[in-house]
Amino acid sequence: MVWIPRMDEKPYTVSCLKDGVVGITVQERGPFSTRLCAMKPGDQIGLRGPYGRGFWGAEERAPGAGVALVGGGCGMALLAPLAERLPEADIVQGARTAEALFFTERFARQVIFTDDGSAGRRGFPTEWLGEQTAAGEVQMVYTCGPEEMMFPVTEICREAGVDCQASLERYMKCGIGVCGQCDCDGRRVCVEGPTFDLRELAGMPSFGRRRRDKTGRAVELRPPDVCPSGPRAAEP
Ligand code: FES
Repeated sequence: MVWIPRMDEKPYTVSCLKDGVVGITVQERGPFSTRLCAMKPGDQIGLRGPYGRGFWGAEERAPGAGVALVGGGCGMALLAPLAERLPEADIVQGARTAEALFFTERFARQVIFTDDGSAGRRGFPTEWLGEQTAAGEVQMVYTCGPEEMMFPVTEICREAGVDCQASLERYMKCGIGVCGQCDCDGRRVCVEGPTFDLRELAGMPSFGRRRRDKTGRAVELRPPDVCPSGPRAAEP
């Protein structure tokens, strides 16, 4: 949790954990992030955490054992430290346009997809994942990004019998399991998550469908139009 004195506190993921440096990646899109982006060396912020449960089990896998990291948008920030710990993993990133891509120099070996074809392949990371799982090239997927992307990623993995962990984003306030703001079907994303595996996600019907805004009101997510595994199952 990043705190700007006399302003607010927001959750951020650690996007750099290397050579003694701990870093976050900030996308400028509101007053808080604009203020963070305007800071200069010597300006002060507060930090508390880390909280919750991140990806697990990655290091126990044999190098080159068919691990894929599938990210979209800001989700690449969360996947970046994992990508550095798993140099043999495939990294697949999707973004709306070339300008919206993250870390193209930091991870030169990425497979890139853009909605408009302005960089990499035109389309979605799910296309690559569908091909690779069908060919038996992928055994484990770690994913983070918009749920409109993660939902079909988890469906492809489920159908192919491939393990998958997805890191969810929910509006957070306390970050320590007290306020209930981040609830997703009875699970506090800030404490029990934000990472969940396929078995856990199967019991979370809101995943990919709706989330709560900062007032606590349920908001429907954009219907998935990119699911290569066909129409999604009816909500249980
Ligand atoms: S943010 Fe308060 S319970 Fe998760």
